[in-house]
Amino acid sequence: MSCYLITGIAGFIGSSLAEALVAMGHQVRGIDNLSTGDRENLAKVQNEIDFRCIDLGDKSEVVAACEGVEYVLHQAAIASVPRSIEDPEASHQANINATFNLLQGARNAGVKRIVYAASSSAYGDQETQPKQENMLPSPLSPYAVQKLACEYYMQSYYHVYGLETVSLRYFNVFGPRQAADSPYSGVIAKFIQKMLSGEAPTIFGNGQQSRDFTYIENVVKANILACTARRDQVAGRIFNVGTGKSYTLLQTYDLIASLLEFSAGPKYGEARMGDIEHSLADIQNARHALGYMPSVGFEEGMQKTVSWYKGQAIRKAAMEGAVP
Ligand SMILES: NC(=O)c1ccc[n+]([C@@H]2O[C@H](COP(=O)([O-])OP(=O)(O)OC[C@H]3O[C@@H](n4cnc5c(N)ncnc54)[C@H](O)[C@@H]3O)[C@@H](O)[C@H]2O)c1
Repeated sequence: MSCYLITGIAGFIGSSLAEALVAMGHQVRGIDNLSTGDRENLAKVQNEIDFRCIDLGDKSEVVAACEGVEYVLHQAAIASVPRSIEDPEASHQANINATFNLLQGARNAGVKRIVYAASSSAYGDQETQPKQENMLPSPLSPYAVQKLACEYYMQSYYHVYGLETVSLRYFNVFGPRQAADSPYSGVIAKFIQKMLSGEAPTIFGNGQQSRDFTYIENVVKANILACTARRDQVAGRIFNVGTGKSYTLLQTYDLIASLLEFSAGPKYGEARMGDIEHSLADIQNARHALGYMPSVGFEEGMQKTVSWYKGQAIRKAAMEGAVP
């Protein structure tokens, strides 16, 4: 049994990691300022984790949270390209300054390894696909720059201070509990939520943009593998975490519409600033160094996700005394 600290534990990915680690019998501590996260996401594990409602900007609390911890899974961030464009300063604080405080806290406390939630947005638009870790990054938004800057911070703390760090570049994660109710929500959560409420979702651009949509269980596995993989294979390195397959937004729309028996076509809006055209991961490095293999594909993941949101809608309607 090991002691894990999850930052951003009340968020979509953080809470999924918490459930998996608790189920494996590990000791889990989590911090979150509840800015986009929700304590409801921790309902299943709330009695089994040490939850601390703190901001990563609070240095003394961060140091205290790192005491006695072997592995840190750093998920906390303002995880949105459009939000970083509207309010780059807040995003910079939450994404860069907070990560710096965590690195300092982890180093002082003698944490063994930090696994960092990096982002495929660091690649921007590349001339060729799939995206490989040795490509020159080309971040297109403040968010992408912030996520990339923290990868460099991670690498430097390994090279300079010997703190083991691993950066996992996630490719469009989706699954149960992803927030659907904000203008900044991920595209799959948004499409499902709109269709469930009987409205046609909006596609920004022509719908031919493609993404390597990665089901949450794959991302959880990658994090756990990154903690235990051999130091000489992973420390100071960056790995793509995707599936190696991509789907256009129109294909994604059609699959969700068929699962929900939703017959209307999409609305269209202007392509958004900072959005990339195509995203497809080369996962060979993660396969070799971490033993990572995606086990849940796009369609199976989508079925699980749609059925979770349907269940939520039914529960909500029952509480409000209406039938959806
Ligand atoms: N979801 C994706 O598709 C995706 C893709 C690439 C990378 N990522 C990265 O994965 C991580 C998790 O993303 P998510 O989708 O679960 O987002 P999320 O918004 O659901 O979770 C982020 C959590 O961090 C918390 N948080 C934010 N700032 C904080 C601070 N200063 N102190 C303490 N807590 C803070 C929020 O309250 C929230 O609970 C992020 O770092 C994000 O950049 C996500």
